[in-house]
Amino acid sequence: MGNIILTGDRPTGRLHIGHYVGSLRQRKEMQDKGDYDKFFIEIADAQALTDNYDNPQKIRENVLEVALDYLAIGIDPSKVTIFIQSAVPSLCELTFYYLNLVTLARLERNPTVKDELKSRSFENSIPTGFLTYPISQAADITGFDANLVPVGEDQEPMLEQTREIVRSFNSIYGETLVLPKIVLPSNEACFRLPGTDGKNKMSKSLGNCIYLADEKEVVEKKVMSMYTDPDHVKVSDPGKVEGNTVFTYLDVFCKDEDFEKYLPEYKNLDELKDHYRRGGLGDVKIKRFLNDILQAELEPIRLRRKEWEKRIPEVYKILEEGTKKANEQCLMVTNKVKKAMGIDYFEDTSFLDEFLNKYKGNE
Ligand code: TRP
Repeated sequence: MGNIILTGDRPTGRLHIGHYVGSLRQRKEMQDKGDYDKFFIEIADAQALTDNYDNPQKIRENVLEVALDYLAIGIDPSKVTIFIQSAVPSLCELTFYYLNLVTLARLERNPTVKDELKSRSFENSIPTGFLTYPISQAADITGFDANLVPVGEDQEPMLEQTREIVRSFNSIYGETLVLPKIVLPSNEACFRLPGTDGKNKMSKSLGNCIYLADEKEVVEKKVMSMYTDPDHVKVSDPGKVEGNTVFTYLDVFCKDEDFEKYLPEYKNLDELKDHYRRGGLGDVKIKRFLNDILQAELEPIRLRRKEWEKRIPEVYKILEEGTKKANEQCLMVTNKVKKAMGIDYFEDTSFLDEFLNKYKGNE
């Protein structure tokens, strides 16, 4: 069997360049390479509700925003099926059966969930929906027989949990579920892009994001006010490259050709870093350089988004058709799961025969 790719995002806001380098760019590359039978992208609204249950409007508003962001980066709906999680009810069925295979202690050990619990301050009274979302994510993945899951590095614990469920299910009910593999970006610098303020993570609540849909001037403003080295006051001062957000971004976005195009007095990033460390290189210059590179990367995305923004009813249709296809695939897998568990009563004629046999001779 060929590859089946599945991935997804929570529709809690528009997507930003952290999502882009962390996974979106890779998905587009996998799409273009074409080495797969099926490719699904899930808009994980039900998962988003596990920590936004009191604000459903926020999720509702962002479903189409996220779809637009996918189309903006060049996801092609004729090659990739985009669908909405909550409109695939078999996923709930699978989740219900997988809940039996995971202990409470195991859920509480999940490092990503632990981080999230802290930042959401419901450490002392955890909604069960939130604690169990990794199990529902295992349903998302296995429910499509996916073997490849391109996601950001923070999703590693979810993949581990999914793999445990697969092993456990298969050993109890027989070889049924596909063991999935995470696909991370090849450049480790892409794993956790910090926010423009240099804080650990790009996040909407911290206001430190560059969004894929940001206008040119907005991107420029954000780049020019980026956190650098606070001790690098005068141009002549020696500067630090480590922990300097502009250089962290350059590590992710800059290619050797960019020097030829925008900053020909240097050959490559190493030369630029050396000069910054020695002193004599100002922040404005490195920020302008980063801005040129980012604008070149983001402009086609912004333009494509603007085109799709004129065709929103079509985007709606793409989601509707994608969700229909997703239901077919997930139903096929769910039937397989129920058969393995012996709960496919009305599809399996031996169910009745076995019982009749048991009572034979009683007449
Ligand atoms: N948990 C993922 C995130 O927060 C979103 C997600 C939901 C997902 N279901 C998925 C990712 C299945 C990959 C596969 O970004």
